[in-house]
Amino acid sequence: MIHIPGATLSAQDVGQGSPILFVHGFPLDHTMWREQVADLSRDYRCVVPDLRGFGQSTVTEGKVTMEQFADDLAALLDALQITEPVVLCGLSMGGYIAWQFVRRHASRLKALILCDTRAVPDSSEAAASRLKLADDVVPLGPEIVVKAMLPKLIAPGFKVREPSWIEEIRQVMLATNSHGIAAASRGMAERADARPWLPTIECPSLVLVGEQDVISTPTEMSEIASALPHATFRVIPDSGHLAPLENPLPVNEAIRAFLATT
Ligand code: MLT
Repeated sequence: MIHIPGATLSAQDVGQGSPILFVHGFPLDHTMWREQVADLSRDYRCVVPDLRGFGQSTVTEGKVTMEQFADDLAALLDALQITEPVVLCGLSMGGYIAWQFVRRHASRLKALILCDTRAVPDSSEAAASRLKLADDVVPLGPEIVVKAMLPKLIAPGFKVREPSWIEEIRQVMLATNSHGIAAASRGMAERADARPWLPTIECPSLVLVGEQDVISTPTEMSEIASALPHATFRVIPDSGHLAPLENPLPVNEAIRAFLATT
């Protein structure tokens, strides 16, 4: 467990070499990166935290903004004495956090890997339903989030191929603290529009999306890649919103090829 201002984070730190900081999506934990860590830790230092309010990390009630999560990551790097610039690999909410990391801690960033994420903010309807979910989840429990989200996360073929993994993802979601879910939902509801920042992001970027992602679609992610000055865009076959977990081989190949050029 690693102490940072206002929280204690659980983080996996495995392998040696240039550091890659993996930032999970909502409402998941570090285990969603296991296929990347198993492969990439042979050549890279993989730092894989549970964000504040998720997994084994401590919970902050109320609201946790994307800015706060980004600052937590910088504090985690401090605590681990990682001073060299890192590759930040974020999925979905992890990508929302990445935009803030770029804004607030650019000197700590070597490159970005953006998986299944969005640059647009929530519409007013989407923000309202997130705020409702934040209010409901504390009395009703994470089951309501599982019901709303799980069917949208995973491509249909994966559901057939890997029923036990779906069950594992469900269990991770069910084990997530309701206050942690509520706080991150409120933070996501008020996240900024990242689109104006994209043309100013000078670091090399890899933009990955599952071909059947219905939350952050290939079309939307190709627009992100086009707006970034130095981006490579890859569509991952046979996968949905959780492409790194659903189809890890092409994801890992794309990451390795990208890292070889950065
Ligand atoms: C995620 O996977 O992190 C979520 O889909 C993010 C969101 O709810 O916008």
